[in-house]
Amino acid sequence: MFFILLVLGLIFLAYIFRQVLVIGKSCKSNAKLHGKTVIVTGSNTGIGKATAIEIAKRGARVILACRSKQRGEAALQDVKRESGSNQIVFMQLDLGSLKSIRSFAENFLKSEPRLDILINNAGVVLVGRTEDGFGTMFGVNHLGHFLLTNLLLDRLKDCAPSRVVTVSSTAHNWGRVDFNYLNTHKDLREGTSFWDSVMIYGDSKLCNVLFTHELAKRLQGTKVTCYSLHPGSIYTELARNKSSFVQMVLKYMGMYFFKNAVQGSQTTLHCALQEGIEHLSGRYFSDCTVRKVFKKAEDDAASKKLWDISERFCGI
Ligand SMILES: NC(=O)c1ccc[n+]([C@@H]2O[C@H](COP(=O)([O-])OP(=O)(O)OC[C@H]3O[C@@H](n4cnc5c(N)ncnc54)[C@H](OP(=O)(O)O)[C@@H]3O)[C@@H](O)[C@H]2O)c1
Ligand SMILES: *[C@@H]1O[C@H](CO)[C@@H](O)[C@H](O)[C@H]1NC(C)=O
Repeated sequence: MFFILLVLGLIFLAYIFRQVLVIGKSCKSNAKLHGKTVIVTGSNTGIGKATAIEIAKRGARVILACRSKQRGEAALQDVKRESGSNQIVFMQLDLGSLKSIRSFAENFLKSEPRLDILINNAGVVLVGRTEDGFGTMFGVNHLGHFLLTNLLLDRLKDCAPSRVVTVSSTAHNWGRVDFNYLNTHKDLREGTSFWDSVMIYGDSKLCNVLFTHELAKRLQGTKVTCYSLHPGSIYTELARNKSSFVQMVLKYMGMYFFKNAVQGSQTTLHCALQEGIEHLSGRYFSDCTVRKVFKKAEDDAASKKLWDISERFCGI
């Protein structure tokens, strides 16, 4: 009898733990988006796709900005079907190529009159170099979104109130930005091992938080606001370039400890849609709640320095 009660008690505790600490809160906003246009980068899979579906359900015109034509067009069909909307467009965007970003922006600005929300969601955990010779994670996770945002900023201002939402990660907590190394190596730090990639990923996600911090200052008085966030731990394709051992561990751990993609899109949706958070522009969210960050993630000098070097790298 006692044993049965103990087991039931443990199951109950495990259930509560999962509900509160793993799944967490969901976006409470009922905002409708008819007549609005939203770009979601990396929306052919993972939480980007779940975000695109929810935004499409709310009536927005959604631009799926994805690097692979094949994967993007397959996602286009899925997003249309699952949202019941036909206001969905695929536009090719490879964030690892400054040229591709420029041609995406040109194409977008020419063909679409509005931009109300830009969601910088795409991300990779992969060492290597981009087309322009930057470290892959610095180039795709930070620099690509930096250039994209800058090229679209005037359109966002024209459509204000508007928002820029950048998906960072709790991994930014172990990140750092070594400007000397960045300057000479066009990358965040040395190394190609599994752990190096995890560290560099953290660095690139710190760049996302610093970028948002600086962007908010530059946008003061414009009614364009911006937010960075941690989406939670979600079993997606993010670990696709890791060993099958790592993928297996994540998969089985994930069944209990991770969210699904819909749950993982809630904080992005909160930052994109929630009314009344405009005074929190530049801040970092997790579990649909604004969070305090370490000094290094709201460092005025570092965020300004990152902005300047990013401008130089992009040639703007
Ligand atoms: N999953 C988690 O637990 C977790 C935790 C914290 C933060 N995040 C962040 O959440 C965001 C979404 O990740 P996810 O978990 O949904 O991962 P995912 O399933 O791997 O999706 C990543 C998306 O980014 C796209 N992408 C990668 N490189 C690109 C490039 N060069 N140009 C354009 N798009 C590119 C991918 O396109 P392809 O399919 O063509 O490669 C894919 O659509 C990332 O920023 C990630 O860092 C995730
Ligand atoms: C990363 O993984 C994807 C999917 O498995 C594969 O198509 C791609 O070539 C890999 N990239 C690298 C550089 O290993």
